[in-house]
Amino acid sequence: MSQSPLSTLFVAILLLSISSSIFADALVDGKRKDIVDAPLLTSKIGANRTVLVGPAEEYRTVQAAIDAVPEGNSDWIIVHLRAGVYREKVIIPENKPFIYLRGNGKGRTAIVWDDSSTNNTESATFTVRADNFVAFGISFKNDAPIGVPSTPFNQSVAAMVSGDKAAFYHCAFYSPHNTLFDHKGRHYYESCYIQGNIDFIFGRGQSIFQSCEIFVLPDRRTKILGSITAHNRRSADDDSGFVFLKGKVYGVGDVFLGRANEAYSRVVFAGTYLSKTITPAGWTNWSYAGKTDNLLIGEFACQGPGADPAHRVRWSRQLSEQDVAPFLSIDFINGKEWLPVYY
Ligand SMILES: *[C@@H]1O[C@H](CO)[C@@H](O)[C@H](O)[C@H]1NC(C)=O
Ligand SMILES: *[C@@H]1O[C@H](CO)[C@@H](O)[C@H](O)[C@H]1NC(C)=O
Ligand SMILES: *[C@@H]1O[C@H](CO)[C@@H](O)[C@H](O)[C@H]1NC(C)=O
Ligand SMILES: *[C@@H]1O[C@H](CO)[C@@H](O)[C@H](O)[C@H]1NC(C)=O
Repeated sequence: MSQSPLSTLFVAILLLSISSSIFADALVDGKRKDIVDAPLLTSKIGANRTVLVGPAEEYRTVQAAIDAVPEGNSDWIIVHLRAGVYREKVIIPENKPFIYLRGNGKGRTAIVWDDSSTNNTESATFTVRADNFVAFGISFKNDAPIGVPSTPFNQSVAAMVSGDKAAFYHCAFYSPHNTLFDHKGRHYYESCYIQGNIDFIFGRGQSIFQSCEIFVLPDRRTKILGSITAHNRRSADDDSGFVFLKGKVYGVGDVFLGRANEAYSRVVFAGTYLSKTITPAGWTNWSYAGKTDNLLIGEFACQGPGADPAHRVRWSRQLSEQDVAPFLSIDFINGKEWLPVYY
């Protein structure tokens, strides 16, 4: 019997409802369903001190406000950035935890600098080394003039996240490449916009990217196609990994979802829309000569023209429900213990 269009449609709806119920169980779990805004975060965090940054405020630069936070700070403090572009490099040092950096929206408040270096750390516009950090509604940008023909292969990091328990809501990260240095620690990115070309989300963070928008830029200098992720998990007992839940990937040109970078690299895309900007092979082991047996490079219930598994590299996986389960839960980053809000 040939399959009627109607039964095909029925199967599609059935599959869709199965996969969405998996997400519903794993992700909703009695938590909020509303959109995060600054007042909601403020009330959840329970901060009772605010310092203001802006041209007519007590602090004119973001760094001056950070410098004024006492060392060893142990109560949440709001550093509120008025709308505007702050052209400066900002570092939140290790001894200043519990900072909630609040902007007026990613289209209205930006921290921008233009260092490019062969050293990722030195190039970063924004660096957070402290634990317990929250950001809302800010664009982090590195606008170094590279990424076009005849410019060097320098790094130009927009944000480097090195502390544990860091969360970014409704933020944006802009750079030609090496955009988000998700260095180490447990991190959560919700409804963020991240753009770049090569390795533009990299490091060995243990991170969930919830409903983020990933935009691929063309870069004519590269011999290989660009790659969205380069994850550096080093051993079987390393808890790190990049997990993309829902969200979408689109852009200009062809790109890999990720690059095997170390023997235990771990990257999962689940329920994500993948446009045709994703090249059919999906993943690359370019510049990595080691074994591929211990990689955990996988996709689950992704949709869109870039999600077709037919030509994927053999060491990438279409994960089963059972395999993907640990990654679909906020417990992957122990989020229930420290996140003010999450899906
Ligand atoms: C802020 O709240 C903390 C903890 O709830 C409390 O210890 C501190 O005294 C409060 N500070 C102010 C300025 O109210
Ligand atoms: C590239 O990085 C090197 C070393 O960090 C630096 O000296 C040089 O100025 C950078 N080039 C550009 C165009 O930024
Ligand atoms: C990169 O720069 C940082 C900060 O200046 C420094 O601590 C680190 O050693 C540098 N890394 C390399 C590989 O030179
Ligand atoms: C790297 O990937 C290519 C293409 O999938 C494959 O032929 C090659 O064997 C891989 N290298 C290793 C070390 O697995």
